[in-house]
Amino acid sequence: MTANSHQYTWAGRFSEPVADLVKRYTASVDFDQRMWRQDIRASLAHARMLARQGIIAAADLADIERGMAVITEEIETGRFEWSLDLEDVHLNIEKRLTALVGDAGKRLHTGRSRNDQVATDIRLYLCDAIDDIQVLLKTFRGALLDLAEKEAATPMPGFTHLQVAQPVTFGHHMLAYFEMFGRDAERFADCRKRTARLPLGAAALAGTTYPIDRESVARELGFTGVCENSLDAVSDRDFAIEFCAACALLMMHISRLSEELVMWMSPRVGFIQIADRFCTGSSIMPQKKNPDVPELARGKTGRVYGQLLSLLTLMKAQPLAYNKDNQEDKEPLFDAVDTVTDTLRIFADMAGGIRVRADNMAAALRQGFATATDLADYLVKKGLPFRDAHEAVGHAVKAAEMKGVDLDGLTLDELRQFSPLIGDDVHAALTVAGSLAARNHLGGTAPEQVRAAVARARKHL
Ligand code: ARG
Repeated sequence: MTANSHQYTWAGRFSEPVADLVKRYTASVDFDQRMWRQDIRASLAHARMLARQGIIAAADLADIERGMAVITEEIETGRFEWSLDLEDVHLNIEKRLTALVGDAGKRLHTGRSRNDQVATDIRLYLCDAIDDIQVLLKTFRGALLDLAEKEAATPMPGFTHLQVAQPVTFGHHMLAYFEMFGRDAERFADCRKRTARLPLGAAALAGTTYPIDRESVARELGFTGVCENSLDAVSDRDFAIEFCAACALLMMHISRLSEELVMWMSPRVGFIQIADRFCTGSSIMPQKKNPDVPELARGKTGRVYGQLLSLLTLMKAQPLAYNKDNQEDKEPLFDAVDTVTDTLRIFADMAGGIRVRADNMAAALRQGFATATDLADYLVKKGLPFRDAHEAVGHAVKAAEMKGVDLDGLTLDELRQFSPLIGDDVHAALTVAGSLAARNHLGGTAPEQVRAAVARARKHL
């Protein structure tokens, strides 16, 4: 960052340069330089349109294109000198362009303002970020599907209130997350539709006096349309808020999964192991293997919620049109992008390394009377009203608990004390495998259904 004083951009109107602290306070180049590719892409599209419309000469466009190629190379190789004096990414690139190609560089800003320029850059940046996130989500969901398929018939206790409720399969449990992350992907796709609209042409706020062609710029940049109102184009950041809301929901799902992974990894539970590379040890306790990655992901969820709140609050009291407040949109947005991107990358890898301890899951099932509902259903099918069946099974559970066994540890004679309807076919209903297989309908946990759901999901993914 150079500190030497350039001729500042708006010198014409001002009688003294801005104070150093103010310069630092108002500058955004430290964080908005990450949009440099989008800034150059948008400037080139703008310049080409200006040339097509006869607003600048073909020779100017050629100079601009040549200069931007040099700048691209300079930034990519780390030789570009970013200057705080030039406030933001836009002015840094424009000034360098002018130094390289002269007057053509000064003509680039014709019919444009930094207000529509920055709004365009952010939208381009966000579309790119969403595309990356979609690829990562797909990989992650693919890993969940692999796991679901592998463990399609592995029984585990399903919980309500964190109490053993009924048997489910581990594959079914994984598919629940597959669904959640699928809705997240839909939300990002939906948000992208509204993000991919072009602000350029709005200029500072009111539009511009040049005969511009906004549609062609939109097409060149891969936008699906233009922002229809110039005031709205430069001022609203609702697309960024929507994006952060989608990120917040995604992280909420990640956090729920993380919570389960942490619990399942606890030696008290022991349902899974995750690969060592996602764990860390303790500096004092030699025996420890801690699930740091899911814990940190759970923690980072709060940070993404915070970014959403920052943007909502940033926007809420701004009168039309552009206000400098909007410069504060970038850090929360970038942080949300980074957090979600890193988290998904690491989770896609981690999901592939989950090892299931079927023995511990089976032991937990035995302790929880997980097939009690199956016994009630059995009695209903023999003609007992459900409420009466519920009560009879409640007594059976109490007896099993006193005897220190699961329901299928009671003998037929013992079971028949609770209902004469119980016959020697009862034990089939009381096994975990029987309980799972009986839930054989769309969305149910029967291994056959889990495999069918995986097959359907593979077709979509
Ligand atoms: N750095 C500014 C931002 O991020 C660019 C737009 C500045 N426009 C202005 N009139 N100050 O929003």
